[in-house]
Amino acid sequence: MAEKIADERIWQKEKQAESPTGEWTGEWTGECEGQFWERARKLTASLTLEEKIGMIHGAQLFQTKGVERLGIPPLVMSDGPMGVRQEFQPDEWRAIGHTDDYVTYLPCNSALAATWNRKLAKELGSVLGEEARGRGKDVILAPGINLKRSPLCGRNFEYLSEDPCLTGELAISLVKGIQKWDVAACVKHFAVNNQETERLWMEVKIDEEALRALYLPAFYDALKKGGSYTVMGAYNRLYGEHCCQSQYLLGDILRKEWGYDGVVISDWGGVHDTEAAANSQLDIEMSVTSDFDEYHMADPLKKAIEEGRIPEKAVDEKVTRILVLMMRLHMLDGERKSGAYNTEGHRQSALAVARESVVLLKNQRGQLPLSREGAKRVLVIGENGECIHSNGGGSAEIKALYEISPLMGIKKCLGGNARVDFLPGYCRDMEEKPEEDEINWQAASLGSGRPAGDQEREQETKQETKQDLEQKRARLRQEAISAAASSSYDQVIFIGGLNHQYDCEGQDRADMKLPYGQDQLISGLLKARPDTVVVLMGGSPVEMGEWIGNAGSLVWCWYGGMEGGTALAEVLYGLTNPSGKLPESFYRKIEDCPAHAIGEFGKPDQAEYREGVYVGYRYLDAYQVEPEFCFGHGLSYTDFSYQDGRLVEENGDWHFSCLVTNVGKRHGAETVQLYVRPLKKSEDGGPGIFQELKNFEKVELDPGESRMVFMKLEENPEGSRIAVGASSRDIRILL
Ligand code: BGC
Repeated sequence: MAEKIADERIWQKEKQAESPTGEWTGEWTGECEGQFWERARKLTASLTLEEKIGMIHGAQLFQTKGVERLGIPPLVMSDGPMGVRQEFQPDEWRAIGHTDDYVTYLPCNSALAATWNRKLAKELGSVLGEEARGRGKDVILAPGINLKRSPLCGRNFEYLSEDPCLTGELAISLVKGIQKWDVAACVKHFAVNNQETERLWMEVKIDEEALRALYLPAFYDALKKGGSYTVMGAYNRLYGEHCCQSQYLLGDILRKEWGYDGVVISDWGGVHDTEAAANSQLDIEMSVTSDFDEYHMADPLKKAIEEGRIPEKAVDEKVTRILVLMMRLHMLDGERKSGAYNTEGHRQSALAVARESVVLLKNQRGQLPLSREGAKRVLVIGENGECIHSNGGGSAEIKALYEISPLMGIKKCLGGNARVDFLPGYCRDMEEKPEEDEINWQAASLGSGRPAGDQEREQETKQETKQDLEQKRARLRQEAISAAASSSYDQVIFIGGLNHQYDCEGQDRADMKLPYGQDQLISGLLKARPDTVVVLMGGSPVEMGEWIGNAGSLVWCWYGGMEGGTALAEVLYGLTNPSGKLPESFYRKIEDCPAHAIGEFGKPDQAEYREGVYVGYRYLDAYQVEPEFCFGHGLSYTDFSYQDGRLVEENGDWHFSCLVTNVGKRHGAETVQLYVRPLKKSEDGGPGIFQELKNFEKVELDPGESRMVFMKLEENPEGSRIAVGASSRDIRILL
């Protein structure tokens, strides 16, 4: 034990150096960091090759090996990002079935992004970090921050936005919140992991300008400004290399250019070659199979070192970084925060985020909010009204302590004096329950690109059941439309959209259409009952062209966590004034999305990102394509005015300020969005970027109240115009 971790006095000194308040400040403090490295190097030198190898690969599905004789614990990880995932067997993707792994189910990242609220992002991160610690984890595999390039990517719900500024800002706050709890964030998946189809092998072809302008900055922000202790490599290939063992991404960019000294963890099964992995800047190989000793960075690497094919130094560097991570997390000094889960405070945070995430897309004639007094008989239609979403989606699945569905939320909001009836109106596809011993979708997902088993058998069953399903749906539709048409109801609310049969890891959507015959259903409902309130839920936009013109009101909510139903009901009945804004463009049809209009998406071998920097609103604005709802759009039950826009230079820094006033009758919050419009003509042969989001600020205002909003500009705005407003297409101040 002589070697066992250093002198207590050094530790005390390090603790003081860390931060006066004990909270991570986002800056490494040289003194303690220096000691960490020195000590980690010494410790590494005292380890045997076998011990070191044990630390750099999974020895269980979510855990590495420790070194008992020196008091080095294993590194324990868990998914992420909507809460801490349930416990699995160490060597099988089978849930242990404990009763102590129910947790707070958090709104998905798309929901968080719709709040445009850095403070809430930090709060959400803090809940995740505290719960991860409470569950005994060292690394939480979150946040997911890949840019949303196409609405069809199956994992969009785990990601934040199509814009690097919004993504980066929220990711910084999330990471800081998580790491307050002596738990490492693991920002994923680095990089250009924008499609699920053949995710393990597909090659991304992108020019470096677009890569650097759009796809890398949020990672830089999360890792360098947020200080994330770890990062997860992506499955896909870039410039001919698998991202998890890429010299270019991990070596040239991450370590050399950015000077990142945290730990790089592979995605599960993302490593393909011992030599490439060992010689890359990857630190830990994780995978989905239980032959842990056979992993590339396990016995095969040990052998290669013993035979002199790979220098032992490569492993030493990885181990040193892992030891520094452990010191940063206080895993070696025994003075670590203990965390907690399922607290009332955590549920309140989940609710706070859910409330601000609901986006009011359309509200003609002030149809919303609905009156609670006028709601004696209410009809809720649509499977999503009572569907539970927490337990799906892939590795982001959550064993939620509870989940308030929209129907429960509405009943809770209205109390016992209202009668709330429910009709499903449509139904999802039948799901085949795999045999108990076949439950291994995560391992299977690496083979086929689909999460669940035998696709051929699935295909056959689909044929057989398709007709039955169609008939059943026609029946459900008719029943719902007739009920809506009857004069029995004061209010009719449709709640549909997507679910985790569509928003799911390991698969992409085939199109942007609403599934299960919902277009027909909504059209029928709006005809029978024109004041039907339409609510859609999902992680990505859907086509709405068939009925949007007839809908008086439309509300969008994401997978809103355990209190999502409460938040939605509060918005519908005006207890909460909606303040969500779209963190991504809602295209009219998939052909309007640049990844499909110009580039390639969903091909199994490669995707050429020919659209370059014209992603999302950057494309729509430059190519003058009308979206259904633009980036940054979201209505409120009150109105805001913008005045006195000013740009001031102070000691070389540029600041924008303006006065925002709540000119309506309700308390509300507005997100002021600042876009920079370059005046210079483009040199890339394209139409040129029209505008880019550079900052945003959310303000809460009582009726009649005014506030000055200040926003710093990172770059000198000379030679550009500054456009500030309530959305990318509702500009109120142009300087
Ligand atoms: C996913 C990761 C996840 C990991 C562990 C992979 O399939 O891509 O996001 O963290 O599994 O469950």
